[in-house]
Amino acid sequence: SPSLSDLAAAKGIRFGSAVAGQGGGSWRNPALADLLKRECSILVAENEMKWQAIRPSPTAFDFAAFDDIARFAGQTKMALRGHTLLWHRSKWMPRWLEKHDFGPQPATAAARLMANHVETVCARYNGKITSFDVVNETVLPEDGILAQTALSKAMGSTEALVDLAFHTARMAAPGVELVYNDYMSWEPGNALHRMGVLRLLEGFRKRGTPVDALGIQSHLIAPVPDAAYQREWRRFVDEVVAMDYRLVITEFDVRDRDLPVDIPSRDRTVADTAKAYFETMLDYPQLRDVLAWGMVDAYSWLQGYEPRADKAEARGCLYDSHFRPKPVYAALAQAF
Ligand code: XIL
Repeated sequence: SPSLSDLAAAKGIRFGSAVAGQGGGSWRNPALADLLKRECSILVAENEMKWQAIRPSPTAFDFAAFDDIARFAGQTKMALRGHTLLWHRSKWMPRWLEKHDFGPQPATAAARLMANHVETVCARYNGKITSFDVVNETVLPEDGILAQTALSKAMGSTEALVDLAFHTARMAAPGVELVYNDYMSWEPGNALHRMGVLRLLEGFRKRGTPVDALGIQSHLIAPVPDAAYQREWRRFVDEVVAMDYRLVITEFDVRDRDLPVDIPSRDRTVADTAKAYFETMLDYPQLRDVLAWGMVDAYSWLQGYEPRADKAEARGCLYDSHFRPKPVYAALAQAF
């Protein structure tokens, strides 16, 4: 039967997944590598391009783990996304950055550090990475305002820092798709987060910041939200595309934490959640790439991040831990 990337390609969309550098979710796991080769035409490194991974110190870069992933993508003829050149959750930036001494001219020093980081990464993967999450999660979900970090404080403003990252990426990687990536989810209750993202996107357009697409992470939470919220979500996406942004689904999976534990019914609800979401999202011709955040339950970050209260295995990926496709796989195949 046709693979997900074959089915997606028929609609002009690429399908792919995150892949890890180590462990079962890594390209080093032959069974997973086979699955990725069969289903995917684009990859992204789950952690290996984050500052935490590639910036052991203010002056050093360590590209070893990411290079291995880039080599795997090259050998298997898969496209490659970059994730991420800047993240505004201090937790996912290196420790040293929080305590870094930016010296007597902090704004200049912070700008130099940011620009140098973007230039170095872009130059190294020139021609290999077709799309970058330049900035990840800079809008605070609680109130929709921009987050502050050591780097943005030194710079003087988060907007200035974020704009610099995009401008530098455009110069250093011309022709590459530049993405602002965030998780304003398929779930009610975070209207301020969505409004904050719209304000940020509006600001980019007003200031001429080169941003091509909104990355919608799509860590969905089952069950399917009610019809009123689904309309609200659609209005949000409508506003995004009206500002002339393309769309990328960057990190799809489904959190089943709140569902009754019974597996057949859980799998059904996860599938229904994905079905409703993709029916909406595939209406947008601006959507070009769909990436899952891992393909196999056993290796999903969901096992560790806010696990189920009853400790049952999370079942939010397309394949179960025995590499069998689940109803959510069929739902996505059908949606394509
Ligand atoms: C997650 C990884 O999957 C985990 O392995 C890591 O411990 C933390 O980060 N949004 C993002 C991704 O943009 O980078 C996150 O990835 C998941 C949420």
